[in-house]
Amino acid sequence: MVEALPVWFRAVLSQLLAILGTFLLLKSGGLFWASLGFAVAFEGLLAMAFGWMLRLPYWWLPIQALFVPAIVISWRLNLPPVLYLAGFVLMWLVFRSNLRERVPFYLTDRETWLAVSELLPRNAAFKFIDLGCGWGGGLAVLAGQCKSGEFRGVESAPLPALLGRFRLRNEKNCRIRFGDFWIEDLGRFDVVYAFLSPAPMPRLWRKARKEMKPGSLFISNTFEVPGVEPDQTLIPRDGRSGKLLVWRM
Ligand SMILES: C[S@@+](CC[C@H](N)C(=O)[O-])C[C@H]1O[C@@H](n2cnc3c(N)ncnc32)[C@H](O)[C@@H]1O
Repeated sequence: MVEALPVWFRAVLSQLLAILGTFLLLKSGGLFWASLGFAVAFEGLLAMAFGWMLRLPYWWLPIQALFVPAIVISWRLNLPPVLYLAGFVLMWLVFRSNLRERVPFYLTDRETWLAVSELLPRNAAFKFIDLGCGWGGGLAVLAGQCKSGEFRGVESAPLPALLGRFRLRNEKNCRIRFGDFWIEDLGRFDVVYAFLSPAPMPRLWRKARKEMKPGSLFISNTFEVPGVEPDQTLIPRDGRSGKLLVWRM
């Protein structure tokens, strides 16, 4: 029942309940001996407990515990406000897609890219795209392994896209476009790679089915398409990013 409420709402609610609980206890004298540090730590524990009761995902619980303590510590450090603005801008430049797409920024490891490269043609010409390519590390690895390919990446987070374009400026067969992969025509590619999150997979699969050519490959790192079995599942040796799910369209 409580799971029907959005996660952000449950997170805010557990913080508000914890602040209220701490305040009421302080006011009633229950924490009369408490220092500010103790009250803040108490609030954090309470927020974590409410988060748990409101069935927040487990990784939210330490965030709940540290949220108010972090605010109080940074307030006590008296940092110049421009630092917060700079932090916010930096976060936005890197993690912009988290908010809109619920896709975080993390990278495929090299071992997994090498496993992807084994799925690519060695001598025939082909076109590959990484949907949400980060700063293009994977494109660089693949382009080094498969000289006959043309490698494209699309990235909507400004800073990684900019760094990627700079990084690949001398690679003739690699290009990164800053923008949204939802407007990319997947029919132009022989291999489409995505390492995103569970959230966009159903919509992405519908797009892939509609646009991709028969015989082309759709590869998802880790995230499944609900209800659609992959044709092949590969677990890269030493890969930290999980498994590669491969569909031949
Ligand atoms: C998990 S990272 C994967 C990065 C890279 N593909 C890799 O495997 O190393 C997902 C990336 O997708 C990007 N992204 C999410 N939604 C996007 C969209 N609609 N258009 C372009 N990029 C997007 C995010 O900014 C993030 O950099």
